Amino acid sequence: MSEAFSARPRPDEPLTDPAVDRAFIGRLVREFYRRVRSDARLGPIFAGEIKDDWEPHLEKMTDFWCAVMLKDGSYHGRPVPAHVKLNSVVEADFDIWLDLFRQTVADLCTPAVAAVFVERAERIAKSLKLAMFFRLPAALGPDAARARSVDDA
Ligand code: HEM
Repeated sequence: MSEAFSARPRPDEPLTDPAVDRAFIGRLVREFYRRVRSDARLGPIFAGEIKDDWEPHLEKMTDFWCAVMLKDGSYHGRPVPAHVKLNSVVEADFDIWLDLFRQTVADLCTPAVAAVFVERAERIAKSLKLAMFFRLPAALGPDAARARSVDDA
C-alpha cells in the first residue's frame, strides 16, 4: 500500500515533500504575515513591536518554519521571551492567529501538507500559551499546602 509514503511525519521528523522547500516556506510566511498585518486585532499588536521594518521578522520566521518543517536547524532564537513580554496579548488572540494560519496553509498547500503545518503550529501555540498564561491555581500552590497543614495542626 502507499500508506507508508503518505503517513504524516512524527513531530521530530522532517516533512519530505519536494514542493515544500525554503522558497515555498518564504512565500507562505509572507502571505501569512500579510494577513496578520491586515487583521483588526493582531495587526496593531505586531505594528507596535515591529514598526516598519518587517524584512528581518519575515526572514527570522522563514528560518523558524524551515527548522520546524524541514528540521534543517536554520532557527536559533528563543520564542518564549519574545512572547512573554507582549503584555497586551490575551489567550483568545491565539485563536485568531491559528485561524489565519489554518486559512493560509489551506490556500497554499495540499491538504496533507497543510495538516502537518497546522499540527506543528498548534503544538507550539499550546506551549507558548502555557508559558504566557498558565499560573498554578492558588489552591494547589505551596501557600495553600502550608495553610492546610497549619489549619490541621
Ligand atoms: C496571538 C499570537 C501571537 C502574537 C500576537 C505573536 C506576536 C509576535 C511578535 C510581536 C513577535 C516579535 C517580533 C520581533 O520583534 O521580531 C513574535 C516573534 C515570534 N513569534 Fe509570535 N506571536 C504569536 C503567536 C505565535 C505562534 C503560535 C508561533 C509559532 C507557531 C510564533 C512564533 C514566533 C517566533 C518563532 C518569533 C521569533 C522569536 C525570536 O526568535 O525573536 N508566534 N511574535
